[in-house]
Amino acid sequence: MADITLISGSTLGGAEYVAEHLAEKLEDAGFTTETLHGPLLEDLSLQGTWLIVTSTHGAGDLPDNIQPLYDELNAQKPDLSSVHFGAVGIGSREYDTFCGAIEKFESLLLSLGAKQTGETARINVLEHDIPEDPAEVWLGSWINLLKND
Ligand SMILES: Cc1cc2nc3c(=O)[nH]c(=O)nc-3n(C[C@H](O)[C@H](O)[C@H](O)COP(=O)(O)O)c2cc1C
Repeated sequence: MADITLISGSTLGGAEYVAEHLAEKLEDAGFTTETLHGPLLEDLSLQGTWLIVTSTHGAGDLPDNIQPLYDELNAQKPDLSSVHFGAVGIGSREYDTFCGAIEKFESLLLSLGAKQTGETARINVLEHDIPEDPAEVWLGSWINLLKND
């Protein structure tokens, strides 16, 4: 099992690029990683560290490729008490439901017993043409917190 499993949710590809960039940086920092774009529950090990990176679509909705995982978690309610996770949301402040998808995901994981490391990053694409940049800054502090988990 990789040290960190990155799980991306994306419609247009932006969040996938961010996840891949963060995976590269984690590898540079000495972690092993696995990056899954829109995985299903059966693709995941229910222990270890997950890093969720998702954009928001619709009106605060999850991208289509990560909605099935959300639905499975919600229906099956697995025990996630052996999972630590970090959360990165990408969205646009022009929507009232700014970064709504990561908020939904974060709430669900917490309700299933997963423990969150660090605060959720909420990246506004109106402010950041290159969302990888603020994501990388956030990752630096997240890595420091992981060492204390
Ligand atoms: C149809 C549409 C609906 C969107 N709805 C939201 C929203 O409700 N909240 C939000 O924060 N961003 C919203 N966004 C902005 C996207 O999250 C943002 O453009 C993001 O960079 C897209 O990432 P992706 O390439 O991973 O799909 C929306 C974008 C589109 C095109």
